[in-house]
Amino acid sequence: MKNKILIKNASELVTCSGFKAKHGSEMSDLHVINDGAVIVEDGVIKAVGTTEEILNKYKEAEYSVIDAGGKAVLPGFVDSHTHLVFGGYRAEEFSWRLRGDKYMDIMKRGGGIASSVKSTREASKQELMEAGLKRLNSMLSFGVTTVEGKSGYGLDFETEIKQLEVAKELNDAHPVDVVRTFMGAHAVPQEYKGREDEYIDFIIESVLPNVADKKLAEFCDVFCEDNVFSIEQSRKLLSKAKEIGLALKIHADEIVQLGGAELAVELGAVSADHLLQASDEGIKAMAESSVVATLLPCTAFSLKESYARGREMIDSGCAVGLATDFNPGSCFTESIPLVFALACIQMNLSIEEAITALTINGAAAVNRAEEIGSIDIGKKADIIILEFPSYKFIPYHVGVSTVEKVIKNGELVFD
Ligand code: NIG
Ligand code: FE
Repeated sequence: MKNKILIKNASELVTCSGFKAKHGSEMSDLHVINDGAVIVEDGVIKAVGTTEEILNKYKEAEYSVIDAGGKAVLPGFVDSHTHLVFGGYRAEEFSWRLRGDKYMDIMKRGGGIASSVKSTREASKQELMEAGLKRLNSMLSFGVTTVEGKSGYGLDFETEIKQLEVAKELNDAHPVDVVRTFMGAHAVPQEYKGREDEYIDFIIESVLPNVADKKLAEFCDVFCEDNVFSIEQSRKLLSKAKEIGLALKIHADEIVQLGGAELAVELGAVSADHLLQASDEGIKAMAESSVVATLLPCTAFSLKESYARGREMIDSGCAVGLATDFNPGSCFTESIPLVFALACIQMNLSIEEAITALTINGAAAVNRAEEIGSIDIGKKADIIILEFPSYKFIPYHVGVSTVEKVIKNGELVFD
């Protein structure tokens, strides 16, 4: 394919136009161009308009033409919260949960994250790569063009670094961009049971500087939760991470209301994620800040927990993002269609809000709102074509992918 592409005849060109997170009512405005077209050169969006405007200005013969043929065209989705790289699976644990066991109880008796830590420590880099590539293929088929991936199944120096190195290699080997997050504070490893403070010090002194020096991660995340890491421990780790140049994310107020949303605002985190139990004050504070409130409805669904108050957050003025939380425990799915279904049907987001949450707000949640997340001049040409004429088919076709083609950096990578 030529490095000059013309996409024409998009029944709806859903640009999601914008260069920063959208808050509250702004989330409803998708900036749709009827019968739209896009010019892409060298992987970058060069012009956007109606097909008529574009064809009047550019010579069709000079471009590789993708005729959207009356279908809807949108920016690629940004899955801003996943635990992409891990060894082993926990299907047995899932069956225990169906029987009534609680996620945190399984974790307390040494299962849960600890079980994935064992398998990930044992896995070779090649095994992790092979599994990672398959997962990225699956994500791409759902229209994901950028994914965030966390470490946190090593909980020792060697394996945390191994996970991040694999994520880096995955980024190089696959069209989907992988944004790396260091999450050494995902759980307290067996070796440090009862010595949580010492474990936080170990991460701060021994792992974090290495991650930062080698530029292995852009973000630092922590599981701030009852019986995992306290507000004080999370604050200590994240403050240090910020000091040495990492941006911040927090697994906040997932099971218990600890004040994780408030902490995210206090520290200037890029996102606060989960938020099932976020307080009224936390929601208000997020609304007045630049923190993206990233909601993960597939996790609530898989854990049979009640959903985060997404509707209220948007009505209060928050910038809400949506993501899968793909991981081997609480939420083993890379399904964007499931995220849409739950966000719209269970959390009462409008279709427009859900799309914003998975495009420009997802991009903002990985600090990339100026490069991706919308079809705007100068941005990367990460574009999807649906098999239907309207974006409204996305949640309407419940649980099924509506994505027919994916263009990544101006190249057709899924058809
Ligand atoms: O985001 N809550 C903590 N971390 C993950 C689950 C990880 C796991 O169970 O392996 C989450 O849900
Ligand atoms: Fe998570």
